Amino acid sequence: MKQTKDNPVAEMIRAKVFLAPMSGVTDISFRLLARKHGCRFAFTEMIDVNGIFYNNLKTIKMLDSVPEDRPLGVQLVGQDVKKIVLAAKICEEKGYGLLDLNAGCPARKVISAGKGSALLKDLKQLGLIIRNLVKVLSIPVTVKIRSGWDKENVNCVEAAKTAEAEGASAICVHSRTREVMYRGNPCHEWTRRVKESVKIPVFASGNIFKPLDVSKVFDLTGCDAISVARGAFGYPWIFDDIYRYLTDGTVNFPLSFDEVKKVMIEHFSFCFKHNDKTRVFPRMYKHVCWYLARFKHLNDIMKKYPRSNDFEEMKRFINDLCVDDRNRLYLSDKGVVCAGLF
Ligand SMILES: Cc1cc2nc3c(=O)[nH]c(=O)nc-3n(C[C@H](O)[C@H](O)[C@H](O)COP(=O)(O)O)c2cc1C
Repeated sequence: MKQTKDNPVAEMIRAKVFLAPMSGVTDISFRLLARKHGCRFAFTEMIDVNGIFYNNLKTIKMLDSVPEDRPLGVQLVGQDVKKIVLAAKICEEKGYGLLDLNAGCPARKVISAGKGSALLKDLKQLGLIIRNLVKVLSIPVTVKIRSGWDKENVNCVEAAKTAEAEGASAICVHSRTREVMYRGNPCHEWTRRVKESVKIPVFASGNIFKPLDVSKVFDLTGCDAISVARGAFGYPWIFDDIYRYLTDGTVNFPLSFDEVKKVMIEHFSFCFKHNDKTRVFPRMYKHVCWYLARFKHLNDIMKKYPRSNDFEEMKRFINDLCVDDRNRLYLSDKGVVCAGLF
């Protein structure tokens, strides 16, 4: 895998928005799809260093990429310095141009092993990991943090200063505490304080669901770039919409139902090409629900979702999807053909 010669952090800043690392979501097919719809920088899913250290085939497969999937950052999650360093070197050898350390994941099984947002409770360990990564890698090391562990322990400024002192090239702040997981509104004020406290670039994360949110978060935080996470669920063309809005201020270009179907088929085709072909239907189930979330009768329709891994059958299912004038989904036997595709 060859990345461009540009500094990836500079590329992120130039891109203004990037696809966030999301476990179970930002696999190669979703990244390629997002790129087709405007995304200019993306991250892998969080990858556990244990899986790389012990050569777990499923984990190693998660590192796969293709030349069109650039520029791309890899995100690692771990606690043990030796394992993290070894996994990071493997990623660098594979050609990744940027490595992000996850110090924000709130999942119980992650924090119980001292990884993810648990590192916010142990800034000494966080600093040690960053120092060692920076020492052995020639690619930039960035760090993803939350605003803190809980409302009594909001320490993102301290964590960011630690990261900067140990040589991190940038920091991304998800401005919620571990305690609230993904609930409620992020407090972007904390990202602003981080931005005012360090010299390295700062990226903001939290509640980017529409183009307008991007300008608001730039204004609130003064950050250098913004990550798009749940906002891309069932809406990978959010990147096109954001850039259109940032360029000429236009909003509200909803895709027609046929265009959404076309994107779904594109997504399936990437998935059949790049992911495990025997696992496409469970992998795509949630995505199909997200694409169709704004329509009625979704549960009934999903009962008909093919439990098979056959591309033709999946295409037939999507082509047969219709909506009536009351926004209700139904399946037509004749199908509505997505013209121009396949
Ligand atoms: C399903 C899901 C998986 C996620 N996985 C990761 C991950 O692997 N690494 C990471 O740093 N953040 C992960 N996140 C957090 C997002 O990157 C982002 O910081 C968070 O969702 C806040 O942004 P939002 O409010 O715009 O969704 C995940 C979020 C979701 C919803």
